[in-house]
Amino acid sequence: MRDVVNPITSSLEEYPMEELFKIKQKLINKNQKIYDFGVGDPSLPLWEPALEALKQSASESQGYPSIGGTKELKEACADYLLRRFCLKEDPSRLLVATKGSKEAIFHIALSLIGRNGKQTLAYPAPGYPVYKSSVLFAQGVPYPVPLTEENHYLMEPWNFPEKVVKDLAAIWVNYPHNPTGTTVNISYWEKLVEWCHTEDVVLLSDESYVDLYHILLDQEEVSASRIPLSPLVVSSDRVISFFSLSKRSGFTGLRTGFMAGDRRILEPHLKARANFGLSTPVCIQKAAAKAWLDDKHVALRREIFSERLDFAFEKLSQMKLLVEKPEVPFYLWLKIPESVSRNDIDFCLNLARDGVITTPGRWLGSKEEHFFRLSLTLSLEDMGEAFNILRKHVI
Ligand SMILES: Cc1ncc(COP(=O)(O)O)c(C=O)c1O
Repeated sequence: MRDVVNPITSSLEEYPMEELFKIKQKLINKNQKIYDFGVGDPSLPLWEPALEALKQSASESQGYPSIGGTKELKEACADYLLRRFCLKEDPSRLLVATKGSKEAIFHIALSLIGRNGKQTLAYPAPGYPVYKSSVLFAQGVPYPVPLTEENHYLMEPWNFPEKVVKDLAAIWVNYPHNPTGTTVNISYWEKLVEWCHTEDVVLLSDESYVDLYHILLDQEEVSASRIPLSPLVVSSDRVISFFSLSKRSGFTGLRTGFMAGDRRILEPHLKARANFGLSTPVCIQKAAAKAWLDDKHVALRREIFSERLDFAFEKLSQMKLLVEKPEVPFYLWLKIPESVSRNDIDFCLNLARDGVITTPGRWLGSKEEHFFRLSLTLSLEDMGEAFNILRKHVI
C-alpha cells in the first residue's frame, strides 16, 4: 500500500504511556483508587488575581492575538527577568511570548537545524521527549547525551566527539533537570556559554522549573547559592532560554510562556512562528502578565512543594530509594534497589496494577534501567497512602 503519511510520522514510536493508560482504565472500571505520580501537573488552583484578570478580560472582545505577545505581557516578562536574574541587558527587546514551552521547544529546531550547514542537535537523555521529536520533524540529526550518576547528570559538550561538535547546530540543556532534579551553578553556566561561543553552537536552555527550588521551611531567607540561575545571566549571545507559567504559577492548561535571548535568532524566528499560528488568547496573556509580575504566590507554591519533598524524602529514604534530597521539589529520580528489580518498566507496571502510577526511566530516554520518576503532585495524605503500597514492592 502506498504510504498515506510521510516516513517521519509513520515511524514515530508508540507513545509508551499507552500501557499505563490501559492499566489505569482497568482500575477506574473497578472503582480502585489511583495515585498518579506520573503526570507533571502541579494540581494546585490558579492564583486568584490571575483568575480574576482572566475572567474580566474574557468578556471583552478578543480579536486575533499578535504572534509575539501583547506589550503588557512582554513588559511583565521583562520585569520578571530583571527582578529574578538581574540581567545586564534590557530584556524587553529580547523576548517572544509562546503558547507554553512545549510548542516553543518543538518549533525552535525548525529555525536552527541547517544553520551554517550544521544538522545535529544534542539533548539530555533522560529528558523531556520533545527535544528528540523536534529534531526528527526538522529532519536533523538527533544526538542524545546520556546523563548518568557517573557524570552527575551534567551535559558536558566539551567531551563530545569532534565530528559531532563540527556538525552541532544547537544543544539543549534543562536545569533544574526533569527528571533528576539536578541543578547547576554559575561556573557551569560560564563554562558552557563560553564553549558554545567558541564552537559556534546555539545554547537552548529549558527553564521550566527554575522557580521551583527547595526551601528550608523553618528559615525565612533562602541562601542565594541555592537559587537556580539562567545562562542569560552570563550572555544572550547565541543563548535562548525558555520560560513557562505551567509549573511556576499553575497555568498548565492555559498554555503560556516566553522565550528570551539572542535577538539575531529571535527576530527571524518570530517571522517563522507567524506561519505556525501560535499565540495565546489575549485574556490569558492578561492573566499571565499579572502572574509574571508577582513573586509571592510562587513563594507559596515553593512552600507547598518543599513540604511534599520533605515528607517524601523521609519515607523514600527509609525505603532506600533515595539517598540525597534533591534541590528541586518537583520530580524524584528513584533508584530501584538491585535486590528488588533491574527492570524499571516491569517494576513500574507492577506498581501501577496496585494503583500507584510512576514513570520508568527508560520511557524518559534513560540509558540506565533501574530508575523511575515520581512527581510530587499529590497531597501529603495521598502520598502517605501510596507510599504504603510502594513499600510492599521494595521489600
Ligand atoms: C522539562 C520540561 N520542559 C518543558 C515542558 C513543557 O511545559 P509547558 O509546555 O507546560 O510549558 C515540560 C512539561 O512537563 C517539561 O518537563
